[in-house]
Amino acid sequence: MEIVEASLDPAKELREIAFQPFESARAMPKSVYTSQDFLDREISNIFAKEWFCAGRADGLPNVGDFFTLELAGQPITVIRDQDGKLRAMANVCRHRMSKLLEGSGNTKRIVCPYHGWTYNLDGTLRGAPAMTRNKVFDRKKMGLSQIRCEEWLGWVLISLNPDIESVAQKLGKIESMVGDFDMGNYEQAFFETFEWNTNWKVLAENFMESYHLPVCHAATIGGVSKVDEVECPEGFEAFNYHTLQKEEDFTLSVAHPDNTALQGERRYMTYLLAIYPSWLITLTPGYFWYLSLYPLAPGRVKIYFGGGMAKEFASSVESQKHFEELRVLLDEVNDEDKGCTERVYAGMLSNFPNPGPLSHLERPNYEFAQYISNKVPA
Ligand code: FES
Ligand SMILES: [Fe+2]
Repeated sequence: MEIVEASLDPAKELREIAFQPFESARAMPKSVYTSQDFLDREISNIFAKEWFCAGRADGLPNVGDFFTLELAGQPITVIRDQDGKLRAMANVCRHRMSKLLEGSGNTKRIVCPYHGWTYNLDGTLRGAPAMTRNKVFDRKKMGLSQIRCEEWLGWVLISLNPDIESVAQKLGKIESMVGDFDMGNYEQAFFETFEWNTNWKVLAENFMESYHLPVCHAATIGGVSKVDEVECPEGFEAFNYHTLQKEEDFTLSVAHPDNTALQGERRYMTYLLAIYPSWLITLTPGYFWYLSLYPLAPGRVKIYFGGGMAKEFASSVESQKHFEELRVLLDEVNDEDKGCTERVYAGMLSNFPNPGPLSHLERPNYEFAQYISNKVPA
């Protein structure tokens, strides 16, 4: 039995396989998943620089609605301010740097839990007790740091990179490709977070290929998944995708009769969009669900999971019932994916040889490996 030596530089190992012709494609070496050093480089080169999906705008519908997250080690709050605008800001007090908000909820103002400095919803400092005798204290200069935040087709994107191009520019190709789905027209019905014991890329890659559907999901959707009808076209610099056709009787997956924008076979078509680095959307004519992934450790991923229906369906009681059933199914499918992706990570911790060749159904994984290699060069 061949036992492989602990790797050299993971970025170098990846470089060696990532740019082979597609016919010779291989999965990424295990070191790019298990190495803390490689993850540190992903965080500084990727997560600190790219757009990160922070959910749907209608998940924070009211003034004062907020949620908190960490991106590249930075505590951030996304909040709807008093003018109704969504903002992302440092979730850190300008006094002695306490974290401010926890979890999610609604608040009239942001009050520091340490000494009570109080900020407006736009981050300006409203008041600070017992600061009148300090000569260098200037309330106007003590606002919370603002972070890039954009709304695009109903999504909320944040970035720590002040110079990043706009989401609309970066993802213009998606807009032209699935413009007839009108993503802005979907309503979020659920949003939750959880953590799994796997590498973030294992989960992203699991989403990118439907090769695993018949086996990993044999107990749920495996039987109705027609892998031979999966199309994996070449992707783009910012994302890859593949498509599936759904059956007429899969109610919410097929366009509503009132939907006249989707024509012909597009009324049955599901897009699986994998937007780099870690934003994954299943978009069907009637419903959508998505994952946004953030690495907590090489073997631990935080998952933001949400979904909902297209407006034409969202208003019908019957569709709501279907969606509830679908939600139960999605949870079961997720459990299966959890098992599959955690088993993959457990296998990657072994000393046995590196992962093997990829199927033609894993073209997105091949392209993702190139994206990672370009961002974390040897
Ligand atoms: S650290 Fe926030 S008020 Fe002191
Ligand atoms: Fe799956």
